[in-house]
Amino acid sequence: MNPLRLLPPETAHKLALFAVKNKLVPAAAQDEPQTRLELFGKTFVNPVGLAAGADKNAKALAGWARLGFGFVEAGTVTRFPRQGNPAPRLWRLGDGHIINWMGLPNKGMDHFAARLRDFQSAPERKNLIVGASLASPENNGDDLRLLSTAIAPLADYLSLNVSCPNVGAHEASPVRELVRAVVSEAGKTPVLVKLAPEESKDALQKTAEDALNAGAAGFIATNTMPWNKRGQLRNTPFDWPQKDGAPVGGYSGPLLLDTSCRMVREIRAIAGAAIPVIGCGGVQSGDDAKALFSSGANAVQIYTGLVYKGPRLIADIKRAFRALRRQDQPPP
Ligand SMILES: Cc1cc2nc3c(=O)[nH]c(=O)nc-3n(C[C@H](O)[C@H](O)[C@H](O)COP(=O)(O)O)c2cc1C
Repeated sequence: MNPLRLLPPETAHKLALFAVKNKLVPAAAQDEPQTRLELFGKTFVNPVGLAAGADKNAKALAGWARLGFGFVEAGTVTRFPRQGNPAPRLWRLGDGHIINWMGLPNKGMDHFAARLRDFQSAPERKNLIVGASLASPENNGDDLRLLSTAIAPLADYLSLNVSCPNVGAHEASPVRELVRAVVSEAGKTPVLVKLAPEESKDALQKTAEDALNAGAAGFIATNTMPWNKRGQLRNTPFDWPQKDGAPVGGYSGPLLLDTSCRMVREIRAIAGAAIPVIGCGGVQSGDDAKALFSSGANAVQIYTGLVYKGPRLIADIKRAFRALRRQDQPPP
């Protein structure tokens, strides 16, 4: 039993982040050449990434590299600091399931940029691809341009989060305009789009094509599943948390894997073989990661699986990736 499970979820998360930042975690074995891959012109030492939301203020980058991640998506960061939603806003439901209603709490763009700047000279920098997740909850193009200007020179890629279910009701995102705003200031830094779980193939196709036309370099599928889309989950063997009598938050965990695999397959079909697609959602074992790679993902990200399974999940995914690569090798 992991003693962190005895603590309230946000306290456990803060302690875990403290341990990772201060390198109180065991160092992973050095990566073998067989896990290396090239994506958008960068070399990843392995295809296992930390999903957005786990290190919102880019606080522990060196520690994540030590734990064995090949890439980290820090953030989501917004232009100004945000408190997020009132607690309780994070529920660990057991059996690998989490619902969060965090609402993008973070210390804002200036603090985030300073943390990335500190990391540029760290010895771990050369082995870690650093992504930065950006959002404007109000869909404000000027805020996105400022974020992109400040962060792009410090990151290997930007990820535009157009899919957070926890920031209140706004107009459906005009994806094309938002991607354009970020791309316009990103220079050579590639811009990926983090998608919401989407059931309709037509809607996904429209979003993906709009994003590509606006200059997006790739996709991350998927963000958490909100209550109003829960029909995409096979079943929900838990009570959905409520605030003032209404269900809140987005689901992450094993039930999301079917959706993330299907979306990766569909995006791959829409965007073609050359566009980077990162699979995210429901990976809690090496076999889960295999399913995403086999659906067409170039790399995978994890969050909830790390909470429940711990760092051994990172090694399990690398093993699965190496096994798939061996299968792909033509016999001598
Ligand atoms: C507590 C929590 C906070 C999250 N915060 C963010 C966020 O700030 N930005 C974002 O793009 N995704 C966020 N996510 C979604 C994850 O990045 C990921 O898309 C989702 O959890 C599915 O992956 P998983 O099943 O491996 O957790 C968050 C997820 C959790 C559990």
